[in-house]
Amino acid sequence: MATVKDTIHRVRAYVAAGHASKSGLAVSAGLTANALRGLESAEWNPTAETLSKLEAAISGSTVVDVPQDTALAGKRILLIVAGGIAAYKCLELIRRLRERGAAVRCVLTEAGARFVTPLSLAAISGDKVYQDLFSLTDESEIGHIRLARDADLVLVAPATADILARMAAGIANDLATTALLATDQPVMVAPAMNPRMWEHAATQSNIAALEGRGVSRVGPAAGEMAEADAWGVGRMAEPADILAALEAFFGAGGRLRGRRALVTSGPTIEAIDPVRYIANRSSGKQGHAIAAALARLGADTTLVSGPTEQPDPPGVAVVNIESARDMLAACEAAGPSDIVVCAAAVVDWRVAEAAPRKLKKKDRKQSQTLELVENPDILATLSRAGPGRPRLVVGFAAETESVIDNAIAKRAAKGCDWIVANDVSAGTGTFGGDSNTVHLVSAEEVEDWPTLAKEEVAERLALCIADALEGAP
Ligand SMILES: Cc1cc2nc3c(=O)[nH]c(=O)nc-3n(C[C@H](O)[C@H](O)[C@H](O)COP(=O)(O)O)c2cc1C
Repeated sequence: MATVKDTIHRVRAYVAAGHASKSGLAVSAGLTANALRGLESAEWNPTAETLSKLEAAISGSTVVDVPQDTALAGKRILLIVAGGIAAYKCLELIRRLRERGAAVRCVLTEAGARFVTPLSLAAISGDKVYQDLFSLTDESEIGHIRLARDADLVLVAPATADILARMAAGIANDLATTALLATDQPVMVAPAMNPRMWEHAATQSNIAALEGRGVSRVGPAAGEMAEADAWGVGRMAEPADILAALEAFFGAGGRLRGRRALVTSGPTIEAIDPVRYIANRSSGKQGHAIAAALARLGADTTLVSGPTEQPDPPGVAVVNIESARDMLAACEAAGPSDIVVCAAAVVDWRVAEAAPRKLKKKDRKQSQTLELVENPDILATLSRAGPGRPRLVVGFAAETESVIDNAIAKRAAKGCDWIVANDVSAGTGTFGGDSNTVHLVSAEEVEDWPTLAKEEVAERLALCIADALEGAP
């Protein structure tokens, strides 16, 4: 009778040869998904009966159980294969992605090509494999920037310690890292390395930096390593787990899929003359995080942002503006939206007539008076009742006193649905800081949220928005 190890070996060989999906195999052998997972990690102890069913399934089954309703259908994945032992698993991953209707295009690093051939990747992906940044043909045909952007997600699998370090440092010294730096799409990494390399402070700090920038991660898993007698955390996640992570990434998007969202973020700046301006201390962190969270839930998201240091959130169309009037024009040009979140700190007034030339000291009298006029009210304009009104308009109230009372009054005055009220008085560190303490004010109630990281506030707000729109046409 086959040992568990033999069976695992044969299951893998069978699946790698493309005869049936593992789930098909599981169905034909009467296995549960848990048992299959246990089988792969060798923790599962099958009875003789199940083993013989498996044997039969391995030799006779042609069942291909491919989920039809998958979030991966139609998705374009740019797969970056780096130089780790686990690169061989990519072949199965690509096959299974394609079974689910995803298109896979591969970029292979120089080291990656030591582990898996471009020929195998091209044959399994059904597409050309890109390896050289300086290929004249590739550059004239597609160009590295388009290569980086013509995808719904960039997946690095296996992600070596080396490529993670180069990504964290923003190095672009080959096609893979140049594409990673040039992409405006979400990035997911599947790290794979020796456990000591994984645990090293350098790798841990690199992965933390990448996650902080919105890169998602699947694995690494614990288990036996390729090196004899090595055990620990560092194995690349199994293709099934990577698929599950991708399904969750795109599938979670289902909640706001088909919805259009518009988010404003950052400060506006209002010119006094060509070199001076009026602005405020908004960093854009909260607004950008909200745009990213809505996009993660699948909303087709546009972010209209004043000048900030924040990187463009993955998967979000960003329109950069300066003044309040530009911001309103960009919001109106973005077209109808289901969801509007006005998180920008719009300067309330602008200089009545900005000087066309730099104001000189000699132009000034003892004191200089600037005449200020009111800027358009973006929140009130977008909240206005009418046939094109978004389903949900959320404003922000940055207050330094009577935070909740002022927010309740602001909600009524602007005609928006919700106000996220936050205390921005000196000492709270809200402006520019990483956390926020907010109250969500609606017509019915005031919810007090605990102090949360701005990303968590964004996540929670996006989920509240998804709840509110649940079932709405
Ligand atoms: C046999 C062998 C196996 C390797 N496996 C891994 C690995 O699993 N993970 C890793 O981070 N590096 C591994 N390396 C080291 C990388 O190949 C090396 O750091 C390389 O520069 C990575 O380049 P890349 O990130 O551009 O693909 C391995 C090297 C050899 C010789």
